[in-house]
Amino acid sequence: MSRFRIFGTTFWGLEDLAAAEVSQLLGTDVEADVAKVFAECDARGLAELVFSTRSLNRVFLQLVRTRFEGLDDIERAVREVDFQQLMGRDQSFGVEAERHGTHPFTSMDVASRVGRAVIESCLSSSGWRPRVDLKSPDVPMYALVRDDEFLLGINLTGPSLHKRFYRVADVRSTLPPTLAFLMVMFSDWNENGCLLDPFCGSATIPIEAALYAMRVPPNAYRRREEMPVFRLKFIEQEVLEEALARLRSSERRWLRPRVYGTDVSPRAVDAARRNVAAAGLEGVVRVELADALNLERWEGVAELPERVHVVTDPPFGIRMGLSDPYGFYLRAFSSVRRAIREPRLVAIFSKQAIALRALGDSGWNVSEVRRVKYGHLEVALIRAEA
Ligand SMILES: C[S@@+](CC[C@H](N)C(=O)[O-])C[C@H]1O[C@@H](n2cnc3c(N)ncnc32)[C@H](O)[C@@H]1O
Repeated sequence: MSRFRIFGTTFWGLEDLAAAEVSQLLGTDVEADVAKVFAECDARGLAELVFSTRSLNRVFLQLVRTRFEGLDDIERAVREVDFQQLMGRDQSFGVEAERHGTHPFTSMDVASRVGRAVIESCLSSSGWRPRVDLKSPDVPMYALVRDDEFLLGINLTGPSLHKRFYRVADVRSTLPPTLAFLMVMFSDWNENGCLLDPFCGSATIPIEAALYAMRVPPNAYRRREEMPVFRLKFIEQEVLEEALARLRSSERRWLRPRVYGTDVSPRAVDAARRNVAAAGLEGVVRVELADALNLERWEGVAELPERVHVVTDPPFGIRMGLSDPYGFYLRAFSSVRRAIREPRLVAIFSKQAIALRALGDSGWNVSEVRRVKYGHLEVALIRAEA
């Protein structure tokens, strides 16, 4: 069976956790790099990875990985790829480029030089000129320039995998599910434990935790048109179908992990319940109305075991009505300690210093802080024990 080199993109600051997930799925060593991971696998591994990964936003077949000095080096490296193996004669391709660092050229320059190199490579080896379609190419290529590193890949998974099948209702400031899953990993929660998100919003964290425990492969429920992997000629379609069948038959829908979400907003509770239902998790993830500042008044507290993993994304900023974040976090995290005997906390904050002060003043011992970037935001992921 042929071997493939692949890479996947994830969140800056959490690459080691994403690498651990991919390594577990593929059963091989995985290299963690800036905001991405690299691995090698066979077609079966590749198929299982694209349907199962929870931590990667996109998965690519790697075509080129090299250092460069100028655009000419990039063009030369791309021309060496045998694109005939990768694209059918009836298929179109398109190049999307991303650039990080200081360069005398733009990402558009990269995209057009790569596109030209793809065409010239095909023309010189067989006289065939592949068709370009920048809007919806059959073979979407992705070129990434970071400082002096150049990467070229074929996007196997399409639009970011954080767009999950179950999201039918949103609240303001939803967390990307891929990041929510990485928070669950960071908390060391597993199916035997109890998980509570007291600021659950649309229930992203509880849903990701439950799907993980029940081994539901989140990307197996995407629309096929969204996943380029179904159109690519170098991957046998039977291998994809077999992987889908295997993954679906290993789902543990019978499992009843203890996963709770609460929120003070009736609108959020409604959105959360709709997402829970769309995820097929009714009767598994319990979502209720409760004020995290007085969590001990929530009647569900009586059902919780002594040890609870509290994994949460509390509100932040004036926009969410938080004029005194220190006072709010102090009350919230004191209330969690009063309601739960042995809480373990993983929470994400935009204001690290304020969060650390409030946690310290409400009796928590912080064991790890991670700086994480997503989009243009830089946030802190904090783990603490009471
Ligand atoms: C950043 S959002 C959480 C978003 C969530 N992670 C998601 O992906 O949808 C914060 C949530 O905290 C809720 N919230 C604000 N004050 C609260 C309180 N005192 N008790 C419980 N929830 C509260 C808001 O209603 C909002 O849904």
